[in-house]
Parts: sequence; structure tokens; C-alpha cells
Amino acid sequence: MKLDRRISNLCITGFSGTGKSLVAEEVARRLDWDFLDTDDEIVRQTGKPIAEIFRQDGEGRFRELERQTIRKACQQRRTVIAIGGGAIVDPQNYELLAKTGLIVCLEAKPETIYERLFREAPYSPETEVRPLLATDNPLERIKQLKASRQPYYAEADWTIHTDGLSVSEVAGEVIRAWRLLRHMHPHLNPLPSRESRLGSQLKANDDVACLVETATQSYPVFVGYGLLNKIGGKMRQAALSGRATIISDKNVFSIYGSKVAEILEGAGFAVNSFVVPPGEETKNMGYAVRIYDFLVEHRAERDDVIVALGGGMVGDLAGFAAATFLRGIFWVQVPTSLIAMVDASIGGKVGVNHAEGKNLIGAFYQPTLVLADPQTLTTLPQRELVSGWAEVIKHGMILDKEFLEFLETNINKLLKLEPEALAQAVARSAAIKAQVVNQDEKEREGKRTILNYGHTIAHGLEAATQYKRFLHGEAVAIGMMGAAKLSQRLGLLPAAAVERQQALLQKFGLPTAFSGLDLTEITRAMELDKKTKGKAIRWVLLQDIGKTVIRSDVPQQDVQAVLQELTEL
Ligand SMILES: NC(=O)c1ccc[n+]([C@@H]2O[C@H](COP(=O)([O-])OP(=O)(O)OC[C@H]3O[C@@H](n4cnc5c(N)ncnc54)[C@H](O)[C@@H]3O)[C@@H](O)[C@H]2O)c1
Ligand SMILES: [Zn+2]
Repeated sequence: MKLDRRISNLCITGFSGTGKSLVAEEVARRLDWDFLDTDDEIVRQTGKPIAEIFRQDGEGRFRELERQTIRKACQQRRTVIAIGGGAIVDPQNYELLAKTGLIVCLEAKPETIYERLFREAPYSPETEVRPLLATDNPLERIKQLKASRQPYYAEADWTIHTDGLSVSEVAGEVIRAWRLLRHMHPHLNPLPSRESRLGSQLKANDDVACLVETATQSYPVFVGYGLLNKIGGKMRQAALSGRATIISDKNVFSIYGSKVAEILEGAGFAVNSFVVPPGEETKNMGYAVRIYDFLVEHRAERDDVIVALGGGMVGDLAGFAAATFLRGIFWVQVPTSLIAMVDASIGGKVGVNHAEGKNLIGAFYQPTLVLADPQTLTTLPQRELVSGWAEVIKHGMILDKEFLEFLETNINKLLKLEPEALAQAVARSAAIKAQVVNQDEKEREGKRTILNYGHTIAHGLEAATQYKRFLHGEAVAIGMMGAAKLSQRLGLLPAAAVERQQALLQKFGLPTAFSGLDLTEITRAMELDKKTKGKAIRWVLLQDIGKTVIRSDVPQQDVQAVLQELTEL
């Protein structure tokens, strides 16, 4: 069933404390529209505070009044309507609001909501208005209530994360969303019934491996075998529209380029493509400039979107161009290598290399969504694929014992790239990286450090061989063996765990030792590594599988002994 959408109002929904009322009022002022707050309207009509209606007449009565008020509000035009935090849960309210207006949801982390509602105003008539939060542990209650309403909030046309933003900034974002979406063509954006919409949302959620939730933005990472076919729909669901520029390298573009372009065109995007040579040498400022030139030539605008289709090199380069062009345009990441799926596409680090060092120029800039289709791994060169498994195994070793067991149990299926096991491994591994990133978006708090497990020696090996001999994952596998052996030497990790790691790495075809290299070269390169603070190297070691410990006091002779051990094949 297609419903025509007459988008003539703006509805602001979201949990209490996300600033709905203030933002709606500000948006109305800037657009010169009317403003209506359903809670205020109910108070005005009944002459009673909301808490009193709850107490005297019950929540049922309040919801009835709310429905009536919303029905009336929806008969208006050019009105910004702020609705109560629970109103959207009601199917009648939702249908009506969605039919007549654009629904924008304001989001905030539970902690922010708690701060705003309880810390900034310890007790006031404001908190009285929220009878559902009157408990001994309001933060916990906020978390529960918010989680239970999340599927309904997710039905909004657009979501804005308000943490750290002022009312005026949020209002600006609402207006931007309005400008972007008001031209939604009914035939491209049919509004199905609530059931099928919720159903498709939940079905879509089957592909969501995780949400990357940073202070500034939150976005889904979709993982699914064959999911590339749905990229157009996923992008439209994320409210992207207009022009899409595919940026890819020659290898990947020749296999998937025309397919992706076709799907995007089918979803209503005007598509351009810019193809760069494959290889790490392309990840530099020169190619970033060529991308800018291309975008300028095609008159790209802020609301256009870049689709980074490829491995980590393309993701870093295209993401960097997206971050800097017009001070940031939308981008979507479609990782096609294993490293890109489980590592490079999660966390928003984008950048290019400088002649003096890797990734010296860059930014933190999150995409609107990540879509990983493990089916694309079937065309990835075998050595690249094997290299990627090192980061997957690393994620198990540092944070998730159960996942490590999953890898051990499913090794044969994974080596054969069986769809289900493969998708599960990619999804879980990406989720582990997201979990770490969510705690420390900009690598300021040191929590991301644990991702460097195995990387101290790996960087030494890579630098000592001018990045030519090892693929990154191969060096990481050897580095993980070094870190595990070092942990064992320091009495932190039992030998059995070291052996388990070694067996798994080897089954995936990864190296666990090296030969023919000068140890002093490696040591020097390790000292120069950018991840070392001051003089002492911060080693990420293991206490157990899934449990890391950071040590800056590792004696040099132990490091040397371990390097020596790694050369004994
Ligand atoms: N941003 C981050 O957080 C982060 C994290 C890790 C790595 N990285 C970066 O990622 C890059 C390494 O990523 P990578 O290993 O994916 O390298 P890559 O992008 O160079 O891809 C490796 C090779 O595989 C090819 N390829 C990719 N997908 C393919 C497919 N499905 N079918 C056929 N061929 C395919 C590419 O053309 C390339 O030749 C480095 O630049 C590294 O700095 C970034
Ligand atoms: Zn790595």
C-alpha cells in the first residue's frame, strides 16, 4: 500500500531531555512557522500539570489526551510539533504524524539525558512533568525506557544526536534535514503501513552488526552476505539522496563498479565514478586533490554523497576527501577487503600518507553508514584474505574468548568462505572493534590502545622491511606471537593460551615467525613507532584470552629474547 505523504509539518520526537521543545520552538522561529508542544497543550487544556494527570487519572487518560492533541495538531500546516517522549509508540499517532509531516528524532546518550534532567535541575516542576522517571535510580530507568522505545524512535525519517550540541546547532540540523527531505518523492519513499515498516526495520536490523556510537554521531554497520544488492535501499533509508560519487580502485571497480552504480541508479541516485590505481602508493595528497578536482568539476554539493567502494586504502582516501571537501560531505563506506570490513571501516579514522610517514595527514570523520558484503571476499586475492584474518583473530584474543572459540570451531567453514559462518565472523569482529571505538572515539583516553595488540612488533617488522615484505596482517600475526610470548615470559599468560593463538593463526595460513632480518633494525623501528609515548614502549599484553594489560615496564632483554624466539622456526 502506498500512502501519499503530504509533508507540511515537522514533528520533533525523542526522549525527554533531548531538547525537543526548545529545538522545535527555535526551528519554528527560523522557518517562520507555528510552534506547538503537545505536553504544553494538554496542560493548557486541562489546567493540570502532567504529573497530576498521571496521578489522578492514570497514564491511559494522558495518552488519550495526547492522541486528541496530536490529531488536532496534524490538521495544521507549517507547524513544528514537539510531541511527548512516549507519543510515537502509539500506532495511530505515528501514522498520522508520518502522513502529514517529517518526523525528526532527537537522540542523546542516557547519561546526557540524566545530566540534563536531574543534574542541571535537581528538582523542579520540569522533573515533575516526567512521572515515568520518578524512581530511585533514574539513570537506570532512563536506559530501560529509552531502550524499549528505541524501535519506535528508529522509525523517524531523520535522527540527530544532540550530545554536545547547542539548541541552535540542533535546530540548524533539523532545518538541514527538512531541506534535504522535503522533496521526497512519494513513489521513491512510499510509506508502508506501520507493521510492514516496523517489520522491514527489524528485518533490516538483522543485518546490523553493530552501531558505532561516538560523541558526535552514531551510525549502523550492516553486514550481510549478498547485501551489496541492497545498498541503494539502505542509503535511502539513511535519508541520503541526490548525487552519489563512487570512489574505488581499478581492481575493485572492475568487478563491482557497474553493479553498484546500477543499484544506486535504481534507487534514484545520479551516479558518478572516480577510479584510482590500486595500491598503498595511491593513498596520498596528490590523489586527494584529484578527487577534489573531480568533485568540483561535477559541481558536488554538501548534500551529495561519496561511496567508498574498496579496501582500506580506498576507504581512508575517499573518507579523507569526504571529510575535507566543502568541510565535510556525506559518505558511505562499502569495504570489500577483510581488513576494511573488520578494522579500517570502523572508527572513522580517515587519511592519507605523507612521504615521511604513513597516515600522517587525516581526520576523524564518521560515515553515514557502513555496508559490508562478505560475498565480495570471494574475489579478494588469497594472500589479502589471509592477512585480514589476523585482525579478526586479534579481536578474539583481546576481548572475546567466546568469539575465539567460534573461530576455532568454524575454521573449515571460514576457510571455505561459507556464507553464514563468514558473515557471522565479520559481523562479530566488526562489533568488537566498534565496542572499543565507542569508548574512545578520538584515541584520547588510551582505550583504543588495546587494538594495538601485536602491532608494536608488527610495525617494527613492516618498517624494517620498507613495508614491502609483509602484508600488514602477516606482520600483525608475528607481532601477536611476540606479544603473547612476552606475556608468558612476564608470567602473565599460560603457555597453553600462547599455543592456542599460534595454532589458530597457522590454520588460517598466517606466519608466526620470521627469518633473515636484523633484530637491531626491527628494534630501532619499534622505538621510532608513533604509538610509543616518550621512551617506554607501551606493550599491549595478555593476562588471559580476552583480557589485556598495558605495560610500559617491559625489560629490554625480554623483548630481545622474544624477538630471538620468533626467528627460531
Ligand atoms: N582507518 C583505519 O582505521 C584503518 C585501519 C586499518 C587499516 N587501514 C588502512 O587500510 C589500508 C589497508 O587495507 P586493505 O588491506 O584493504 O588494502 P587495499 O585497500 O589496498 O586492498 C588490498 C588489495 O585488494 C584489492 N581488493 C580489495 N577488495 C577486493 C575484492 N573484494 N576483490 C578483489 N580485490 C580486492 C585492492 O584492489 C588491493 O589491491 C592501509 O592503507 C591502512 O593504512 C586503515
Ligand atoms: Zn592493524
